[in-house]
Amino acid sequence: METACSPYFCCILMTTALLFVSRLCAPVDTITSSSPMNGNQTLISDGGTFELGFFSPRNSGPVYLGIWFHNIPTRTVVWVANRDSPVNDSSSVALKIGNDGDLVLVDGTERIIWSSGIANITSKDTVVPLLDSGNLVLGDQGSISSSDDYLWQSFDHPTNTLLAGMKLGWDLRVSLDRYLTSWKREDDPSLGDFTYGFELEGLPQKFLRKYNSKVIQRSGPWEGTRFSGLGMSSLSTIRPSFVQTPDEVYYTYNVSNKSTITRTVLSHTGSLQRCLWSDQNLEWSVTYSIPNDACDEYGKCGPNAICTINSPRICSCLTGYIPKSPLDWSALGWSEGCVKKNPSSCPGKEGFRKLKGVKVPDMLQFWINTSMSLKECRDKCLSNCSCSAYSVTDIEGRGSGCLIWYGDLIDMRQLNEFSSNQNVFIRVTASDLANSNRKRWIVGAAVSASIFLALILALFVWVKSRKVRGRHVDVHSGDDIELPMLNFVAIAKATDNFSYLNKIGEGGFGPVYRGQLPNGKEIAVKRLSENSRQGSDEFKNEALFIARLQHRNLVKLLGCCIDGEERMLIYEYMPNGNVTAANSLVWRRRFDIIVGVARGLLYLHRDSRLRIIHRDLKASNVLLDSEMNPKISDFGMARAVGGDQMLEKTMRVVGTYGYMSPENAIDGIFSTKSDVFSFGVLVLEIISGRKNRAFRHPDHNFNLLGHPWKLWLEGKAFELIDEKMEDSFAVSEVMRCIQIGLLCVQRHPEDRPSMASVILMLDSQSAMLPQPKQLGFFDERNHEDVDYSLSNEMTITQIEGR
Ligand SMILES: *[C@@H]1O[C@H](CO)[C@@H](O)[C@H](O)[C@H]1NC(C)=O
Ligand SMILES: *[C@@H]1O[C@H](CO)[C@@H](O)[C@H](O)[C@H]1NC(C)=O
Ligand SMILES: *[C@@H]1O[C@H](CO)[C@@H](O)[C@H](O)[C@H]1NC(C)=O
Ligand SMILES: *[C@@H]1O[C@H](CO)[C@@H](O)[C@H](O)[C@H]1NC(C)=O
Ligand SMILES: *[C@@H]1O[C@H](CO)[C@@H](O)[C@H](O)[C@H]1NC(C)=O
Ligand SMILES: *[C@@H]1O[C@H](CO)[C@@H](O)[C@H](O)[C@H]1NC(C)=O
Ligand SMILES: *[C@@H]1O[C@H](CO)[C@@H](O)[C@H](O)[C@H]1NC(C)=O
Repeated sequence: METACSPYFCCILMTTALLFVSRLCAPVDTITSSSPMNGNQTLISDGGTFELGFFSPRNSGPVYLGIWFHNIPTRTVVWVANRDSPVNDSSSVALKIGNDGDLVLVDGTERIIWSSGIANITSKDTVVPLLDSGNLVLGDQGSISSSDDYLWQSFDHPTNTLLAGMKLGWDLRVSLDRYLTSWKREDDPSLGDFTYGFELEGLPQKFLRKYNSKVIQRSGPWEGTRFSGLGMSSLSTIRPSFVQTPDEVYYTYNVSNKSTITRTVLSHTGSLQRCLWSDQNLEWSVTYSIPNDACDEYGKCGPNAICTINSPRICSCLTGYIPKSPLDWSALGWSEGCVKKNPSSCPGKEGFRKLKGVKVPDMLQFWINTSMSLKECRDKCLSNCSCSAYSVTDIEGRGSGCLIWYGDLIDMRQLNEFSSNQNVFIRVTASDLANSNRKRWIVGAAVSASIFLALILALFVWVKSRKVRGRHVDVHSGDDIELPMLNFVAIAKATDNFSYLNKIGEGGFGPVYRGQLPNGKEIAVKRLSENSRQGSDEFKNEALFIARLQHRNLVKLLGCCIDGEERMLIYEYMPNGNVTAANSLVWRRRFDIIVGVARGLLYLHRDSRLRIIHRDLKASNVLLDSEMNPKISDFGMARAVGGDQMLEKTMRVVGTYGYMSPENAIDGIFSTKSDVFSFGVLVLEIISGRKNRAFRHPDHNFNLLGHPWKLWLEGKAFELIDEKMEDSFAVSEVMRCIQIGLLCVQRHPEDRPSMASVILMLDSQSAMLPQPKQLGFFDERNHEDVDYSLSNEMTITQIEGR
């Protein structure tokens, strides 16, 4: 991870700045002609979010005028005025309204060091307020209410940071191009090597470039909700938008909750990062960065090839093309790309192959007409032998317009076919088309056959389940749950009056006791602790969910007991404890546990009547019955999500450290993919026989997620396998599970497989697994420190999310 999100400056400087502020009589938010800002003063925006002042990134040495967040303890500079003309010390400088109404930075001898550079200001009375958005604006005192009134604004001159509300892009009326330029070094704000901005050739796209020339990454055109090339959707906390009018072309974003503190920064190493401030950890976290993977690298596969990140060989030639240098290509050297298999085929019989859900090629040689139909576009392309592909221009709308590429097709990547509507039609010869059609026919036939088989199977399962349901129909009817009510006296008797000798654990909302009913049946009793309001909610939640769920991999509720203040849930007793004790098991058993938990989760996520996110999956919540079948328990935190809405944001971060996905821990966002993350941690714990949170390795500071990842990268993942398993396993099967575990703990939720895919991967020994990408929380020692200061493996319910 790059360091741009980390604090740049040390605390000493910060305290000095704070001292300065406190010495001011009253913090001001506006510079006027009668009140300049001296070197020992700062300006604070009226809502207290931003602060303007002088800072020195290296504590001593060059001093810059800049804006930083005022409301967080880590000084984070978001704008710098005099990037290439620092001053030696701040004692004699002043920022003021000059004689001509312009904003100027002058030294002790009134020499102008920097100015906003506005000539011929007619207003006699200009003021410079610092707005709470972080925008420093210059305008006439009488009329400065809207952005049209501003004579100058810092938002029009971004440095390395894009804040919410800033525009990245063009004001075509005045040829203003707003783009980011990185700092030279982490502690040097002067102009660095990297830029990030819009280019308007063809369809507008954002380019990350080095030295203003070499392209590092290209965004692709806007696709309605995001730039297509990203291949990932942005956080729900961020609302991006793209505006294209004859006057303006720009990208901007705002935040859905005003108190979210976020920024997008182009680091001095050329990585664009979105950072989110975490009030809990008091630090910035990176929620995404660009380039994100190998396929983001511009032109990774060379001309006429397509990059597919989840395939073992990420580059492949487009239909009708062959590797230009087959030897390099077979040795994973992609840069030469591909050439036409049959260059002299045109004119001849030709057609087009549709590539679905792809990032369109870069617009190097192209032709655009926004009013043509797709059919006209196709004909136009066919009529010229140098046309190699076509597509629509209006991707987000009804799919009209014509975009034609001539010559080589550069920088294509496969995106998620289902989340992207971008299709590109590649020109191919009739024989290539026939080949791919035949392939499609075979695939089609295979798909139809398997659908047919699946239907038969489903019918069979349905008939069977109807028989089963007949017996259970009284357990729940509609939304009114009917639970067998058990008598308090009977339960008190069964548990020997809740004797501490019978206490077997502490559940989400209170102690758990073991007991035996008069008929000999063993039970587990979860008793709600007295005076626990939190517990009461969890109790209701759990009763509500568990009563409606039935699956062999979920614990079975036998009944409940409500008597005065007493609240209890009664479960079947699990004689083999929980999975924490699984570390003496042979591999076969461990594997069965992994598969069982996966099935239970799949049922929750997909197959149950409610779609449920468990939110607190961990080893101690997976119980083992007398045959060592795993059963998921503890639904106190579970949430049902409606229909397709599989992403939720909560104000409370819940879960257990060590099992919590980054987006949950940082952002309070949970989805089925946060359960998948916890599942991945569980899998790695089961294989290694160690706990994530308790994990310590003598050689390094990585936690249990980082350790297998490190071994994986070094090709030594088998070292992770618990020594206690001895030789009772097939190495390939365990390795497969390690890979699945790593896939589940990937940092970005969209990269993690669904539980349905996990089951497929576990079931089939031959299917090719994708390579895991960047993991969440593996080397973050700070985070671990937080872990250790928590007393034990308690589920967190109280910490306030943001
Ligand atoms: C700040 O500096 C100005 C001149 O640079 C000086 O007149 C003023 O007394 C200083 N204020 C404080 C509080 O140090
Ligand atoms: C800063 O100090 C250097 C050397 O100490 C000097 O050459 C330079 O002129 C000074 N710059 C300003 C703006 O005072
Ligand atoms: C500003 O005024 C000067 C003299 O009046 C004129 O020459 C110049 O063109 C003006 N500049 C702008 C940008 O209007
Ligand atoms: C964010 O922008 C959208 C439209 O771009 C607007 O509807 C919404 O009110 C804005 N939200 C905030 C918090 O400014
Ligand atoms: C674009 O296509 C339309 C419909 O075919 C045509 O009328 C128009 O002249 C074309 N415009 C350009 C600039 O070629
Ligand atoms: C085909 O397109 C290329 C690139 O635009 C152009 O230079 C060439 O003249 C066209 N050829 C024909 C026959 O239209
Ligand atoms: C925004 O976040 C704050 C702080 O976490 C919270 O108190 C507030 O309810 C949130 N507002 C909305 C509309 O979600």
